[in-house]
Amino acid sequence: MRRLYPQPAELAGTADLEDEYAVIADRHVRANFVLSLDGIVEVDGRCGCLGGGADRAAFMAMRAVADVVLVGAGTVRQEHYGPVRLDAAAQERRRGRRQVPVPPLAIVSNRADLDPAARVFTTETKPLLLTSAAAAVRRPDLTGVAEVIACGDQWVDVTVALAALQDRGLGRVLCEGGPTLLRSLVGANLLDELCCTTSPLLAGPGHRGLLGDQPLTDLISLSLASVLEGDDMLLARYQSPGPR
Ligand SMILES: NC(=O)c1ccc[n+]([C@@H]2O[C@H](COP(=O)([O-])OP(=O)(O)OC[C@H]3O[C@@H](n4cnc5c(N)ncnc54)[C@H](OP(=O)(O)O)[C@@H]3O)[C@@H](O)[C@H]2O)c1
Repeated sequence: MRRLYPQPAELAGTADLEDEYAVIADRHVRANFVLSLDGIVEVDGRCGCLGGGADRAAFMAMRAVADVVLVGAGTVRQEHYGPVRLDAAAQERRRGRRQVPVPPLAIVSNRADLDPAARVFTTETKPLLLTSAAAAVRRPDLTGVAEVIACGDQWVDVTVALAALQDRGLGRVLCEGGPTLLRSLVGANLLDELCCTTSPLLAGPGHRGLLGDQPLTDLISLSLASVLEGDDMLLARYQSPGPR
């Protein structure tokens, strides 16, 4: 892989890529998506066919530097999400940065409509479940497989959810989707950085786009921070200039 912008450079390996995605601030919200050229994020409910080697490498590097991986329940259900896994070298580099070897997963769900036997719960470290107080009461069975945190009475307030992560020392957040969750982070002005891998594919209409269905009231401007290239894909990093 190579960096095209700002300073062109070859990125020799995984550690280089982790440096590329290193986060200095102790509170930072990054989202990462892979898209087709016409801006779709799934085909038949899955995004695997949009990705490739370079996208996968960046995805793993972003996980390797994050304090927590945040994901919406829709993506967990559709993609049959599993626990976060990192290889031994990435875990060692995390220890060197005084991070736990593997970042925990945090799932956002209003309804907590999740199967306690799902793959995502088959891990030694329980994922966090950021849900409503009403759903927490309705689903006591999930407390055995997740750390259930109420972040609103009937609905999750994403500002409260991110504050709950920060209270646990999980300030560098990597949001892996999906569009509904991204839309709520953008709507609450909580997003610092958007990473988009553009794949050289056209998918046509009838698929989900980056921000789901709920329109924005205004255009939102971002600024380009970097562009990498690998496997015919462009991996762009955009920063949100607005105050948080
Ligand atoms: N291309 C990519 O990089 C990429 C990345 C991720 C996902 N995807 C695709 O996106 C599709 C899923 O889209 P989606 O919009 O359904 O994804 P999503 O945002 O993961 O899931 C939506 C669900 O997550 C929960 N949720 C999300 N935001 C919430 C909030 N602010 N407050 C409370 N609950 C919240 C709700 O769960 P409950 O219904 O349980 O209340 C909601 O129904 C999948 O097909 C997946 O393949 C693509």
